[in-house]
Amino acid sequence: MNYRNIINKGASILRNNAILTANLDAEILLSNSLNKTREEIILNLEEKLNVHQINYYYKLINRRKKKEPISLITKKKYFWKSEFIVNKNVLTPRFETEFLVEEVLKIYKQSKKIHVLDIGLGSGCILISLLKERNKWQGTGLDISSLAIETAKTNAKIQQVYNRIRFIKSDIDKLYLGKYDLIVSNPPYINKIGYNELDIGVKGYEPKKALYGGIDGFKVIEKVIKKSKIILKNNGLLAIEIGIGQHCKASELLRKNGFKVVKKVKDYQNINRCLFAKKLDNEKF
Ligand SMILES: C[S@@+](CC[C@H](N)C(=O)[O-])C[C@H]1O[C@@H](n2cnc3c(N)ncnc32)[C@H](O)[C@@H]1O
Repeated sequence: MNYRNIINKGASILRNNAILTANLDAEILLSNSLNKTREEIILNLEEKLNVHQINYYYKLINRRKKKEPISLITKKKYFWKSEFIVNKNVLTPRFETEFLVEEVLKIYKQSKKIHVLDIGLGSGCILISLLKERNKWQGTGLDISSLAIETAKTNAKIQQVYNRIRFIKSDIDKLYLGKYDLIVSNPPYINKIGYNELDIGVKGYEPKKALYGGIDGFKVIEKVIKKSKIILKNNGLLAIEIGIGQHCKASELLRKNGFKVVKKVKDYQNINRCLFAKKLDNEKF
């Protein structure tokens, strides 16, 4: 069997199992199983596979057929300008989160030395991407999950920013250390109804701790805002990602805690996705 035939067979299995991206996924899984780029596959469609390669490919197709995300099968996901290692212990980085990175970099154009805290580090995609863009920045990455911290450490080593990050395994509620110039966070923000309605490809494979934000979705958002009020320097910035329909309540929470919302950023679907808020000087507030 050659590349062309096996891609067609793989895609047909996926299509029959309601996978919308069947053709693309069949190609990606072949390139992954042969350890070749997609271009190498497309340019050599008549190339033959051996029996081991065929069996291995069908194993991957069977996993995808059950809705396992491509990122978890291939163990990698591209985010901002780098490829990140992902696994079942971390949220797979989402495109929407790149809006947060992009806006922070617009606000902090120069690489003046600052200390940035990432609350809910996960794979490390936000903090690592920022440190790679700004070589004088120091980071602290905090997560409640020790397995997430391990994954972020691996990514930080691969991306060569490990020495600039302090890793803390803790609930944000229990952090009493430090003062930061900038806090970034993509907390879990999906509410109970939303969580129950999530696609099996997300709910069945990604960590609940990374997605579920309590009954109203605000449990961790509120913790992040209240803690940031204490550990952010005056005039420091909190950049936080939020979910659909959360921006009014989140803005109100920020105001009540001494922040001024300076920017809201919408994603490709026109949903208010990130809020950027300055901590006001305590005395003026
Ligand atoms: C939505 S994921 C974000 C991961 C990564 N920053 C990203 O943007 O892809 C949220 C992360 O917050 C962590 N988390 C959840 N509750 C937390 C808490 N109370 N304190 C600290 N981290 C928490 C989860 O373990 C998870 O890794």
